[in-house]
Parts: sequence; structure tokens; C-alpha cells
Amino acid sequence: MGLVNTMNIDFSQGLYSGLATPVSSLNFPELLDYESARDLIASAGESAPLLGVNGEGEPVSVCLDEDSPHVLVNAGSGGGKSVILRSVAAQMLARGSRAVFLDVKRHSHRWAKGLPNAHYAATLPEIGNALISLGMEVHRRNEVVEAFPGPIEEAPVGPRLVVLFEELNATMTQLQALDRKLPRGSYTAMDAFRDIMFMGRAAKVHIVAVAQFASTAALGGGDIRENFSTRILARYTKQAWTMLAYDCGLPQPSPEQKGRGMVCRAGKARQTQFLYLTEEEAAELARGGHRPERRLPATVRAHRRARAGRRALVASRGSL
Ligand SMILES: Nc1ncnc2c1ncn2[C@@H]1O[C@H](COP(=O)(O)OP(=O)(O)O)[C@@H](O)[C@H]1O
Ligand SMILES: [Mg+2]
Repeated sequence: MGLVNTMNIDFSQGLYSGLATPVSSLNFPELLDYESARDLIASAGESAPLLGVNGEGEPVSVCLDEDSPHVLVNAGSGGGKSVILRSVAAQMLARGSRAVFLDVKRHSHRWAKGLPNAHYAATLPEIGNALISLGMEVHRRNEVVEAFPGPIEEAPVGPRLVVLFEELNATMTQLQALDRKLPRGSYTAMDAFRDIMFMGRAAKVHIVAVAQFASTAALGGGDIRENFSTRILARYTKQAWTMLAYDCGLPQPSPEQKGRGMVCRAGKARQTQFLYLTEEEAAELARGGHRPERRLPATVRAHRRARAGRRALVASRGSL
């Protein structure tokens, strides 16, 4: 009773007054599927695939020309790494890029097998050979850039090449073991990897790599990690944050929702709901190019409009 009498009931004044409401409680969609992201995908730039949306529904993308020639995706098992690679690859293929999958697990991107501009390396020797070809291609393209009198970005280097590198940690360790069996002085897959990481930007050769834990040792050197200027973290530990997002302030807790994580770049971590494409949708997008809107039969369109109307009504009731 004493408590009630002395309690300050003017809630407008107090310890919390003047503080902003945390933005992490904003409206993230539970799922960002192909249907709802179609327009955002269509309006993404040729070199800037859509990654997802932020809590205000705004697109979060990564520009491979300007922000970050290479992207690192770090997440625990089941954290959505392959789904992120799938949506980046499908969008890049839709825009005329070539994609090279390096996948020791062999089946992470079945959807891409047989696509005209996708190449798949699924064994360690194949991955080694693919990296060497890519490294040599980077050198060839850099000679083209060097000889070209105009602006670097207009040099006729050929189609953009995106390398989807699964399981970087395991692959690197095994490649290093194989390298010891090669003749001394060979141009190895590790050399090629470094060359792509350091010279890929002008050559339009980009690596999107997946690691469960991207330690310096796993990447083959701290200087290599610096070339991944965009780092995506999902299902991460405090230790992973300290390693990869140290420039983004104090560790923020890992979001628990499916397909949710952080896109870290230039000292800022943006919470993002990542795009989810099914394997069929990814293949369709990659094959057909981006289509802003599928022309559906009139009856289906009417049905969808009615359903959207009902949903809006339910949502507005829910918010009262
Ligand atoms: N963006 C997303 N939205 C919704 N569900 C997702 C998303 N990303 C992943 N998932 C779910 O998590 C599962 C595991 O994702 P996956 O990319 O295979 O994980 P990882 O490669 O990190 O082991 C998917 O099969 C899917 O069910
Ligand atoms: Mg995976």
C-alpha cells in the first residue's frame, strides 16, 4: 500500500525518458520469398544483387563494383549460408554473369547443375583446377585493363564472373595438403585464390565465400580477410563478431529468426532478413532473367487482390 501511494504515476518522466525505441523491433517479414521480393530483385543493379530487406522493408544489397568486390558469409550450420549463395548466384546469372561453384559437399547447389552459364567443381582436384583457371583469367583480364585507354570499369574484360565458394575452411586445408604433392614452384590454387582476392575487382571476378568460422588461418592470412569488405554474419557467436565485425561496435546478439542476420560493412551492421528462393525459383530466375511481374491470368490476379485486401484488414485490426 505504501508502494502504491509513493509510486510516481507520471510515466512521461523518468529514467527512460528521451531514449529512442530500439530499431531491432521493427517490422521484418517472417519470410522474404520470391513473390514479395520480385520488384526489389528487378530493380537491383547489375553488379548489386539483393541480399534481403531491413526492418523498414528497404532493400539491403551489396555492390560488387563499389562496396566490396568479395563477400564473406559466416554462419553456423543451418544458418542460411547456401541460401544466400543461391540468391546471389541466381541474380548474377540472370544479369548475364558466369557462375563458378566450388563445392566440396557436391550437392549444395544442385539447382545450378546444367544451367548454361554455371560451372560446377565438386571434387578437390576439380576445385584446384577451377581456382587456377580463374587466377589465370584474372591475370588475362588485368592485361586487358592495362592496355585499355578508357576508364577501368569500361575495359572489355568479358562477362562478370562470380565464384560461389562453399566450405572455405575445409577446402583450404585440404588444398594446402594437395599442394605439397605438386612440383615446387607451381602456380597453385592458393596462389590463384590470393590473386583473385587482391586483383579481382578490376577484372570483375568476385568471390562469395562461405565459412563456418572464418579465422585468419582458414582464409590463408589476415590480409586476405581485409579484402572481404562485406561480411555477412548469421547464427554467430560473440567470438565470430569480434573476429569479423569488430569495426561495427559492441557485439550485438545473434538474431534467432530463420534467415535473419547481419550485413556488416564500413563500420555498420545492418540487421537483414535474407531473401529465400527455392531451388526451382533460383533456376527459373537464372534461366529466364529477371521479370518484374509475371502476367498472371485475370482470375488469379483478382483472387490475389482479394486475399491481399483481407490480409490488410486483419493486420489493421491486429494493430488496434
Ligand atoms: N532466408 C531464409 N529464409 C527462410 N528460411 C531460410 C532462409 N535461409 C535458410 N533458411 C532455412 O534454413 C535451412 C538451412 O539453410 P542453408 O542455407 O542450407 O544453411 P547452411 O548452408 O548455412 O548450412 C534452409 O533449408 C531453410 O529451410
Ligand atoms: Mg550449406
